[in-house]
Amino acid sequence: MQRMILVTGGTGGLGSAVVRAFLNDGATVITTWRRRDTFTRLASELHNDRLHGVEVNLTDRTNVRAAVAEVVARFGGLDALVHVAGGFAGGATVAETGDDVFDRMFDLNVRSAFVCTGEAMAALADRRGAIVTVASKSALHPGVGSGAYAASKAALVALTQSLAAEGAASGVRANVVLPGTIATDANLDGSDPSTHTDWVRPAELAALIRFLASDAARALNGAAIEV
Ligand SMILES: NC(=O)c1ccc[n+]([C@@H]2O[C@H](COP(=O)([O-])OP(=O)(O)OC[C@H]3O[C@@H](n4cnc5c(N)ncnc54)[C@H](OP(=O)(O)O)[C@@H]3O)[C@@H](O)[C@H]2O)c1
Repeated sequence: MQRMILVTGGTGGLGSAVVRAFLNDGATVITTWRRRDTFTRLASELHNDRLHGVEVNLTDRTNVRAAVAEVVARFGGLDALVHVAGGFAGGATVAETGDDVFDRMFDLNVRSAFVCTGEAMAALADRRGAIVTVASKSALHPGVGSGAYAASKAALVALTQSLAAEGAASGVRANVVLPGTIATDANLDGSDPSTHTDWVRPAELAALIRFLASDAARALNGAAIEV
């Protein structure tokens, strides 16, 4: 049976590599998008009729509920939800960080995952599917100037492990990857990738995510994997 994979943030630096990896696997991939131009660009780059997009604001439950329902109705089910969407804000100490930054980090990195996984759970249970989320090494090794971000990614790890425990009864697995700096175009900003040997390449991370979402990883549930 054709595998159906929903990728949030599939238009981004890591997300586009994740989309590519699942397409290469023969799956049908539905990515969320927020700005049409980013999806149009991805679609023309990948040129694959198994790639589809759905417009959604991931921090809005009503929006997400409608998008998941649309995906399930149109594609007949869901085998995996890969929650890549997220983002960073920081550069100031906790004492100097405003509530707006804290709220933005928790909305983008935690609420989006809370809402998306919650809304997709029933469809995933129907197919004994998988959830993979993307946190950050900062969740386990926080440093100076990223308190709100690190706390939000630590909450995402806890959320994913709660999903792993709750999903066990219905056969839904949930695992989380914790990357260090990723060699996305935005991070490289024109610099030579070979000068950043400790940065993980999007394609390498995407291969791990694809594995975690596959039946070959059925022994893994609740794992938090630093990359
Ligand atoms: N880059 C790194 O070095 C690094 C390191 C550790 C962990 N991570 C994590 O890895 C993941 C991917 O990072 P990235 O660098 O690839 O990010 P990115 O290029 O900024 O992509 C983020 C994606 O999320 C989407 N998005 C953001 N807010 C959204 C919302 N409210 N509703 C719908 N879509 C939304 C973006 O859509 P738009 O294009 O419309 O904005 C974009 O597709 C994130 O969770 C990030 O925290 C990244």
